[in-house]
Amino acid sequence: MSEILVDMMVHAVIREAKAVHSFDLRPLDGGLLPPFTAGAHIDLHLPNGLVRSYSLVNAPSERHRYLVAVSRDAKSTGGSRFLFEQAMVGETIKIGLPRNNFALVEGAPEVVLVAGGIGITPLYCMIQRLEEIGASWRLFYGARERASAAFRVELEKLESAKPGRVHFNFDLEDGRLLDVTEAVASAKLDVHLYCCGPVPMLEAFKAATAWRPPETVHLEYFAAPKQTAPSGDSFTVTVASSGQTYEIPKGRTILDVLIDKGLYAASSCRAGVCGACEVGVLSGEPDHKDYVLSDAERAANKKMMICVSGSKSANLLLEL
Ligand SMILES: Cc1cc2nc3c(=O)[nH]c(=O)nc-3n(C[C@H](O)[C@H](O)[C@H](O)COP(=O)(O)OP(=O)(O)OC[C@H]3O[C@@H](n4cnc5c(N)ncnc54)[C@H](O)[C@@H]3O)c2cc1C
Ligand code: FES
Repeated sequence: MSEILVDMMVHAVIREAKAVHSFDLRPLDGGLLPPFTAGAHIDLHLPNGLVRSYSLVNAPSERHRYLVAVSRDAKSTGGSRFLFEQAMVGETIKIGLPRNNFALVEGAPEVVLVAGGIGITPLYCMIQRLEEIGASWRLFYGARERASAAFRVELEKLESAKPGRVHFNFDLEDGRLLDVTEAVASAKLDVHLYCCGPVPMLEAFKAATAWRPPETVHLEYFAAPKQTAPSGDSFTVTVASSGQTYEIPKGRTILDVLIDKGLYAASSCRAGVCGACEVGVLSGEPDHKDYVLSDAERAANKKMMICVSGSKSANLLLEL
């Protein structure tokens, strides 16, 4: 099993806000790129060996480029630091094709978006799509300060064109954090709600939306809320394509064992947040530990993230 990787040229690097740069990535042949939907992300396979996911921020109608905006993590072990220090115009970067774990449902009577910091990226892409289809939306956007709010100028223009849609909260200037509960409470029951931001914001959003119809509530983690270690006893995994069965010892992940056995298995975050390692489950009951699947998808047991999830049954037959 191998992931399709594409070489892209860094066409431009733009300073979007304090410690946020966007990278305009274009195909080497100048041709059209595979289409993507709002909320999608790509994996950047960096020359330092790291694989990091970044949401696409340009309008999905654009086919000539993928635009990502990256926040420099002060404690970065290499992903955002590499991009800031070494991904210069003219450099080539390998990427995986777009995947979407945070898809925009079109046709809702209204869409309410709640962003925290760099979590604006997939939501700004959704806004551009909502504008294209003439849908109704409101954004609640919390950032530490005006200077650190990426796409502020573009959002201010949208607000001027049709007031009442963009609500900024600048924590340091306003002296308080964005009130997620209040933002959510302003939405009628049939409104679709989307949230991306730091873990405490996502937890507040989950609590504030717990009573709403689950199909109207959408969120994306950029980092795992806590480190998830595989739990439970050892089990076996059978690879459907070869019929080979492998022992997954207690405390190890399926992903690590399959890599050790020389079977390539795609991965990026290895923390259950990006969806890169998703595989189909043909039989058996996974012990889901990821932050990607919805409750309904977990209950269906048709797919799992093998970087963190284990098994409740003695064997899993995986679509690999
Ligand atoms: C679907 C998805 C979309 C994303 N979209 C974006 C986006 O649009 N823009 C964006 O900027 N980011 C995005 N991210 C986050 C991005 O993929 C990276 O995680 C982020 O850039 C940090 O990577 P890094 O290599 O710089 O930092 P890392 O080295 O991965 O470190 C990240 C944090 O983890 C901590 N850490 C690292 N190692 C350890 C350790 N051993 N023990 C304890 N703590 C540790 C560090 O202190 C640091 O604070 C997205 C993530 C996902 C899953
Ligand atoms: S590698 Fe990201 S969810 Fe498994």
